[in-house]
Amino acid sequence: MFKVARYWRPVGFVLLISGLVLLMLPFVRYAFVFGAEGLGLGELRDSYLFRDGGGLSNPAIFGHMLCGAVVTLLVPVQLIPWVRRLLPWWHRWAGRIITGLGLMTGAAGLLYILQRGSVGGWPMDLGFGIYGLCLIVSCVQTLRFARAGQMDRHRRWALRTFWLAIGSWLYRFHYGLWYLATDGAASNANFSGAFDLVQNFAFYLPYLLGLELYLRR
Ligand code: HEM
Repeated sequence: MFKVARYWRPVGFVLLISGLVLLMLPFVRYAFVFGAEGLGLGELRDSYLFRDGGGLSNPAIFGHMLCGAVVTLLVPVQLIPWVRRLLPWWHRWAGRIITGLGLMTGAAGLLYILQRGSVGGWPMDLGFGIYGLCLIVSCVQTLRFARAGQMDRHRRWALRTFWLAIGSWLYRFHYGLWYLATDGAASNANFSGAFDLVQNFAFYLPYLLGLELYLRR
């Protein structure tokens, strides 16, 4: 009985992570292709995110999408224990890439907010501004404690980085579920409905709080 649980638990975990990656793939692809287009690697679709004379805000937002796509794709794999054990070189290199690109994603998102502001106005600027700062701090701490050999603290920060890194997808996922369930109640194109306002924080704060409770146990 115990033997079965010993083998099935890791298999179940890998299946869970694979399912998550599959669910996130369409968004990852969207962010990657949109980002690449905006950086001149394809014909750019019509979008308010590109502004003539927008200066740095244009490469910032599209570079942000490209880096964020890679981070979102790589971060779940870091959680799989046997990848860490059997392929330590992968874990280390992917960790460095996630940290570097995570910092760029956060910093470029913040630059865009400061220069242009988000489509939802100051409540969205605030929610996403805090989100960007959290991601930056979490990436730095995860790498810092790994390098210092403080693996327990590294693990805790890595879990925070995970929830933050998939936050951008969770934001869209929440919207998808909400629109399916309510046909878009309390949500509008200006992002000023009650659901939109809650969403500015609901895609990362509850997850971070839940994680803190779990870590305290
Ligand atoms: C971690 C992975 C991330 C990915 C994959 C990602 C992806 C994207 C994509 C694809 C867009 C274009 C909007 C759309 O068409 O849906 C976008 C916009 C934006 N992102 Fe991110 N993002 C990530 C993280 C962040 C972070 C950490 C911040 C915080 C600084 C942030 C702030 C923004 C802002 C302010 C916009 C513009 C919103 C608007 O006015 O429409 N993102 N992002």
